[in-house]
Amino acid sequence: MNGRYVAWGESNVHLSAHALHYGTGVYEGIRSYRTADGLAILRLKEHIDRLFNSAACYDMAIPYTKQQLIDAVCGVIQRNGFVESYIRPLVYMGSESLGIRAQCPVEVAIMAWPNILHVSPENRMKGAKLSISRYRKIDNSMVPVSAKACGQYINARLATMDAINRGYDEALLLNQQGEIAEAAVANLFTVRKDVLYTNDQSSSILMGITRDAVIQIANSLGYKVQVGTITVHDLEEADEIFLTGTACEVLSITNLDGHKVGGGQPGTITMQISDIYDRIKTGQVSAWEHWLHRMPIIQATGDKAANH
Ligand SMILES: Cc1ncc(COP(=O)(O)O)c(C=O)c1O
Repeated sequence: MNGRYVAWGESNVHLSAHALHYGTGVYEGIRSYRTADGLAILRLKEHIDRLFNSAACYDMAIPYTKQQLIDAVCGVIQRNGFVESYIRPLVYMGSESLGIRAQCPVEVAIMAWPNILHVSPENRMKGAKLSISRYRKIDNSMVPVSAKACGQYINARLATMDAINRGYDEALLLNQQGEIAEAAVANLFTVRKDVLYTNDQSSSILMGITRDAVIQIANSLGYKVQVGTITVHDLEEADEIFLTGTACEVLSITNLDGHKVGGGQPGTITMQISDIYDRIKTGQVSAWEHWLHRMPIIQATGDKAANH
């Protein structure tokens, strides 16, 4: 937290922090995995690059270099002795004044949790139930949606809780044009006749790092990936639908608003890509080694002492 290792219970922020009131922060979600030979953080560099881009969209100058944040992410994992973990770097405007035009200090914190499973293995095998939300996705013309900014997630939260309350697992948001934008915290792909389809920033989506990985993996397998607008009609016609994100990884959708997708089972291309993604993240595919930031597993050194 701001250059120091701080014990979990002492990681406090003042009530007057600008970000708490106005959502003026940006963040990342990153995962580390166990490999045969230590642990690996997946696409760490790309996540840190996106964090800096998100901060720049909101004129927040991060008072550290990218390398310092990479080192700090590794330090948090190692000092806690984590192997499989979910890592959350957060850059936010701290306390100064609550004026909307205040120049608050830009603060940086990195949290991590061990062994987080966003989707249980059983649910992954079954596939998820997706529902088109009554809430539209915030438009590119309202906020820069290519930034992963805290305040923007009030939209994702509303849509997700509404979907869950109606018995679904995930919400799918349409954009202002009534086309598909993305799921609350994941990008969307469809498969039809062995061609993959996904959209891009012109549909008001966050450009996911997993989305990019899946496009590269699909191309390497010889599949064509077409990037363009996706409509509700395209979803109804799809042989397969899946979501991508750091948290959900490659998640098959087998039910859309109560209707079976494909035969109601995860599709073969979805499973093929999901399987390769799993092998890449655990260091079993040498062609994608450059996506891994490998580290040895070490015993926790404890987080009681807030020293450097
Ligand atoms: C709105 C939104 N879309 C898509 C994604 C997927 O992005 P990534 O694959 O980089 O995790 C996320 C999660 O970060 C997200 O919050």
